[in-house]
Amino acid sequence: MEMQQKVVLVTGGSSGVGQATAVVFGRQGIRVIVTGRNSKGLDETVEHVRQAGGVAQKITADISEPNDIQRMIEQALAVYGQLDILVNNAGTQGEVAPLVDQRLASFQEVFDTNVRSVFLCMKYAIPHLLNQRGAIVNIASGGGLVGVPGASVYCASKHAVIGMTKVAALDYATAGLRVNAVCPGGVDTPMLQRFFESIPDPDARRQAREEFNATHPIGRIAKPEEVAAAVVFLCSPDAAFITGTTLSVDGGYVAH
Ligand SMILES: NC(=O)c1ccc[n+]([C@@H]2O[C@H](COP(=O)([O-])OP(=O)(O)OC[C@H]3O[C@@H](n4cnc5c(N)ncnc54)[C@H](O)[C@@H]3O)[C@@H](O)[C@H]2O)c1
Repeated sequence: MEMQQKVVLVTGGSSGVGQATAVVFGRQGIRVIVTGRNSKGLDETVEHVRQAGGVAQKITADISEPNDIQRMIEQALAVYGQLDILVNNAGTQGEVAPLVDQRLASFQEVFDTNVRSVFLCMKYAIPHLLNQRGAIVNIASGGGLVGVPGASVYCASKHAVIGMTKVAALDYATAGLRVNAVCPGGVDTPMLQRFFESIPDPDARRQAREEFNATHPIGRIAKPEEVAAAVVFLCSPDAAFITGTTLSVDGGYVAH
C-alpha cells in the first residue's frame, strides 16, 4: 500500500530498460512519469503502462542539456504534485574502439549523457525527495564494475555513476533517502541491438552475439523486465535498509 502512494520519474523511458521499468512500476500502482527525447516512444510507454493497469504521463527532455533537466524536474513535480522515486536510466553506449581511437566529441557526449545528467537529476530532485521514504536508482552497468575491451569511455562513465551513487547515499543516509545503483550485464534492448548491427558481416555479427551470450554464466542476456524487477525492489519498503550498494543483474557476468 505504501508504494501505491508514490510517484516515480524514469529517464530514458521510451525504450528498453526504462520502458520496462515504467511498466513494472505502473503495474504495482505507482504513478509514473517517463521522460526522454523520443516523444513517440514515450507515448508507447504511457500506453503500455495503461494496458498494465497503471497511470503514466510523459515529459519530453534531452538529459544532455542542463536547462532541460531543470525544467523536466519542475514539470515532473507539477504532474502529480509530488515526486518520491527517481530512476536515472537514460544512457548512451558511445563508441566501440580502442582508447586512442575514441573521439573527444564522443567522450563529451557520453559524459554529458551518462554522468552529468545523473548528477543534475539528483541535484535538482533530491531536495524534493528527502524524508518521504523515497529512493533513487541509478542504472550503471557491469562496465561500471569491470573493464570491457573497446569501451573505455562508457566504462569510465559507469564507474563514475557508481562512485556518485555511493556518495549520494552517504550524504542523505539520515535524511530518509536511499540511493543505489543497478548494474545490468547484457540486456536485449535497442542499445545492444545497435551495437551488434554495427558489425556489417552477418556471420561475424552472429558469432559476436554467441560470444557475448557466453560471457554471461547463465548462458544468455537479460530481458529488460529482469532489470526492471531489481529496480522496483530497490525502491520498495523491502529494501529499506539497502543504500549505497550496487546490485548486479547480469547472469553472473562480473562473478568470474
Ligand atoms: N542494454 C544493455 O546491454 C545494457 C547493459 C548495461 C547497462 N545498460 C544501461 O541501461 C540503460 C538503459 O539502456 P537500454 O539498454 O535500455 O538502451 P535504450 O537505448 O533502449 O535506452 C536508452 C534510453 O536513454 C534515452 N536517452 C539517451 N540519450 C538521451 C538524452 N540525451 N536525453 C534523453 N534520453 C536519452 C534513449 O532515448 C533511450 O530511451 C542505459 O543507462 C545503459 O547504459 C544497458
